[in-house]
Amino acid sequence: MLGCAPRLDMPPIADRGPVVVTGGAGAIGAPLVRSLLEDGHEVRVLDNLSSGRRESLGRMLDNSGVRLEIVDIRSLDSIRKSFSGAKAVWHLAANPDIRLGTADPRVDLEHGTLGTFNVLEAARTNDVPRVLFSSSSVVYGLPEVFPTPESYGPLLPQSLYGASKLASEAMISAYAHSYGLEGHIFRFANIIGPGMTHGVIYDFFEKLRKEPKRLEVLGDGRQSKSYLRVDDCVSAMRLAEAKSRERVNVFNLGTTDRVSVREIAELIVAAHGGHARIEYMGGERGWPGDIPQQLLDVARIQALGFRPALSSLAAVELTIRELASARHR
Ligand SMILES: NC(=O)c1ccc[n+]([C@@H]2O[C@H](COP(=O)([O-])OP(=O)(O)OC[C@H]3O[C@@H](n4cnc5c(N)ncnc54)[C@H](O)[C@@H]3O)[C@@H](O)[C@H]2O)c1
Repeated sequence: MLGCAPRLDMPPIADRGPVVVTGGAGAIGAPLVRSLLEDGHEVRVLDNLSSGRRESLGRMLDNSGVRLEIVDIRSLDSIRKSFSGAKAVWHLAANPDIRLGTADPRVDLEHGTLGTFNVLEAARTNDVPRVLFSSSSVVYGLPEVFPTPESYGPLLPQSLYGASKLASEAMISAYAHSYGLEGHIFRFANIIGPGMTHGVIYDFFEKLRKEPKRLEVLGDGRQSKSYLRVDDCVSAMRLAEAKSRERVNVFNLGTTDRVSVREIAELIVAAHGGHARIEYMGGERGWPGDIPQQLLDVARIQALGFRPALSSLAAVELTIRELASARHR
């Protein structure tokens, strides 16, 4: 799948035509919509507002160039007409919570795998030439190589969420080769910033809100991962879209450093006044399906000129400061 397909003649989206963003009211979707709008695209946001919020699009909705359609990608009939005339679809809609997918095994199949199938069908039947997809580093499962390159295999995800991302990647590749679409697959590290509704930083703040004197940490705290600020994630995706013209383009998106769960817990307790006791539940994994060690090889996106504005540690510190000050208001 990687790098062996012929290059396409398809140009970057230079004509500023309409684009579809599924999940565009979410934490990553909303800044992506802003970036596309600033570049002069007409943006059609398809979102069921299950974890996204209308408010995250804010004043952008006053702009005639953005249309929010409250629809569910589980229904092909309800999304198909929105793809008419679109130059690209950025497909971000999915269940964002790995543990929810373990609790209910149908969630990622329906919102993820079948949702992606519907998006691809809507793209194919409307001749949309380009599909860009938010995948995840969890497709690597428990890799034995760090930093992990895009060519790593076999890909053996540990969660149903990861299985759904990998199935979606496979379908994008198959559609690209069968029907002539151009596919872009972005394997994200942990993406953090305003508007988050899940993830370790958000979870720790929620726990301390409910129980200010004690912070329970799942696992032994030695889980260590890289964190990419959402603005950097959007910049990297836009750069890859503009510069990569393979039939299927696969990119790891992350930083070159990582931060442990222990460091995050200590930073959050300090931001919270330093009074909470940290209790580690033990074990190397936080929960079934957790990937305790993650560091992506980002040489491929760096070769296009990408440099994140913030390291993992700087991104974590900024996000903690923002959440702490929002909670004190
Ligand atoms: N945040 C991360 O660390 C991270 C890491 C890897 C991959 N991703 C992927 O990036 C994408 C965006 O994640 P996010 O962090 O912005 O999460 P998010 O929950 O803020 O965004 C997901 C959006 O999809 C919408 N949505 C969910 N199911 C839908 C459905 N069936 N139909 C229509 N809309 C639906 C939600 O309402 C929400 O607006 C997701 O695909 C997620 O799996 C995120």
